[in-house]
Amino acid sequence: MSVSADTRSKTTIVAIDGPAASGKSTVSREVARVLGWTYVDSGSFYRGITWKALHAGVDARDAAAVQTLLARSRWAFPLRDRSVVFTVDGEEPGDALRGPEVREAVSDVAALPDVRAFVNAQLRAMRRYAPLVMEGRDIGTVVFPDADFKFYLDASPEERARRRARDLAAQEGAVDVAQVLASLERRDGKDSTRREAPLRPASDARIIDSTAMGVDEVVALIVAVVRSGGDAI
Ligand code: CDP
Repeated sequence: MSVSADTRSKTTIVAIDGPAASGKSTVSREVARVLGWTYVDSGSFYRGITWKALHAGVDARDAAAVQTLLARSRWAFPLRDRSVVFTVDGEEPGDALRGPEVREAVSDVAALPDVRAFVNAQLRAMRRYAPLVMEGRDIGTVVFPDADFKFYLDASPEERARRRARDLAAQEGAVDVAQVLASLERRDGKDSTRREAPLRPASDARIIDSTAMGVDEVVALIVAVVRSGGDAI
């Protein structure tokens, strides 16, 4: 049976999961914009905690030290332009969240059970901003298993490396695609094999292989599914 997304728009949640550089961020942000809903980048929470740990000189793999950091810092996630913004102790790391130090350490921090419990609680509290589009690795499987719409966005590793290299070239200058591919595969490997909430599609997720699709095409597909209440292919 089709249920109009609008009639229950107060609680509607769209979960978009997938591996690194699958286009999730661009697509999720645009889907939220088109629908006029709140956008939440769950990766920014893991990246933000990693950034704080690096700044505080805390070893990203030291579970006890990271737990102390979680307890002692002041975390806040205000809403700005319908996007949730990561802040800690009044600071907004912004672009630093996507820098190389954070990139190489984030999967270790995200594998810590205390970190996941903390982030999950914060993400679930975002329901108050619904309707929302939330992207990540485990939104449809763990954070919101009851999400109204679940998508798993994938693309071949080579295509993902090309896309990420293009983004990085704009931010950091020339990059080597082979190195980017190796870094993505390292992170994917850690994310897919960790004990808690490993990266995998929810059994009821729609899998979208975007290897040969443009951003607009993927956005249009997701928006069509949501607007049709789940009936669109
Ligand atoms: O943009 P990209 O896909 O490269 O990364 P991201 O979505 O910002 O996520 C960064 C890292 O955070 C991932 O590699 C995971 O280790 C972790 N993460 C997670 O464990 N669970 C989530 N829901 C989101 C991110």
